[in-house]
Amino acid sequence: VLALCASASTNPAPTHFQFLRIQLTTWLMHVYNISPCFQELGIAVTHSNIEAICGSDVVFVAVKPHLVPLVLNEISQHVTDRHIIVSVAAGVTLATLEELLPENSVVIRLMPNLPCVVQEGALLFTRGSHAKQEDGALLRSLLHHCGLVEEGPEAWIDIHTGVSGSGVAFVYLFAEALAEGAVKMGMPSALAHSIASQTVLGAGRLLRDSGKHPAQLRSEVCTPGGTTIYGLHTLEQGGLRASTMSAVESATERARELGRKSAAGSRK
Ligand SMILES: NC(=O)c1ccc[n+]([C@@H]2O[C@H](COP(=O)([O-])OP(=O)(O)OC[C@H]3O[C@@H](n4cnc5c(N)ncnc54)[C@H](OP(=O)(O)O)[C@@H]3O)[C@@H](O)[C@H]2O)c1
Repeated sequence: VLALCASASTNPAPTHFQFLRIQLTTWLMHVYNISPCFQELGIAVTHSNIEAICGSDVVFVAVKPHLVPLVLNEISQHVTDRHIIVSVAAGVTLATLEELLPENSVVIRLMPNLPCVVQEGALLFTRGSHAKQEDGALLRSLLHHCGLVEEGPEAWIDIHTGVSGSGVAFVYLFAEALAEGAVKMGMPSALAHSIASQTVLGAGRLLRDSGKHPAQLRSEVCTPGGTTIYGLHTLEQGGLRASTMSAVESATERARELGRKSAAGSRK
C-alpha cells in the first residue's frame, strides 16, 4: 500500500488498524509491535485500497514516491473531509499531495527514520493547508510509540532527511570505524563491534536523557592530558566535525533535488 488506515477517531488502539493491502513497511510493523498475524489481532485486512479508505479516518500512504500519483488518483474520489491523509513518501511535497487530492483535503507529510523499528525513531511531520492542530495531535498520539515525534515547517523535512534519515548511516559508519580501530589495536572483531554498538547506544541515550549539550558531555569525559583529549585531537585533525556537517548538507541538498524532480514528474 498505501499502508494502513486507522479508525483513530473512535479508538486509536492497534486492533482498529485496517490495511489497504497488507504491505506494511518495516517501520510501520513495529509501531505497535504488530506481528504478521494481523487477522488474529482483529485487524481488518483487504486488498482493495478503496475499501480501506471507506472504512478509515487516518490513511497512511507508504508506497514508493513514484507510485503516489497512481494511488492517490485511485482513492481520490473516496476521500472526504473526515479523512486525514498522511504521506511518508520521500520528496513528495504537500503541494503535490494536495493537488492530487480533492480540494480542502486534510494532508500531513511525515518523515520517519529507520530506528522506528526499535521504537527509537525520530519523526518530523508538517501539516498541509487544511490540517488543523488537532489533526497533528492525533498523529502524534498514534505515532509516539515510534519514537520522538516533532512538528515543523515543510522546509525542515529535507533537513530532517539529511540529519536523521541519512544521519543513521553516518552513525553506523562511525560505529564501524570505532570497532575497526579496536580491531587494529588487537581486539577480536565480534567483541569490538558489540562494544562499539553499545558505546553508540549508551552515548546516545545519555545525550538524550541528560538533555545536556554534546560539548558539555564531551568535556566531562576529557581528563586534562588524558586519553580522550588525545583521541579528540586526532579526530579534529581528520576533519570529522567539518565532514559530518558537510555530509548533512549534501544529504539535505540531495533530498531537495529529488523533491524538485518528483514535483516535476507529478505535473507531467
Ligand atoms: N524505508 C524507510 O526507512 C523509509 C523512511 C522514510 C520514508 N520512506 C518512504 O516510505 C515509502 C515506502 O518505502 P519502502 O522502502 O518501505 O518501500 P517498499 O518496501 O517497496 O514498500 C512499498 C509498499 O507499497 C506497496 N504497493 C505498491 N503499489 C501499491 C498500490 N498500487 N497500492 C497499494 N500498495 C502498493 C508494495 O506492495 P507490493 O510489494 O505488493 O507491490 C510495498 O509493500 C516510500 O515512499 C519512501 O520514500 C521509507
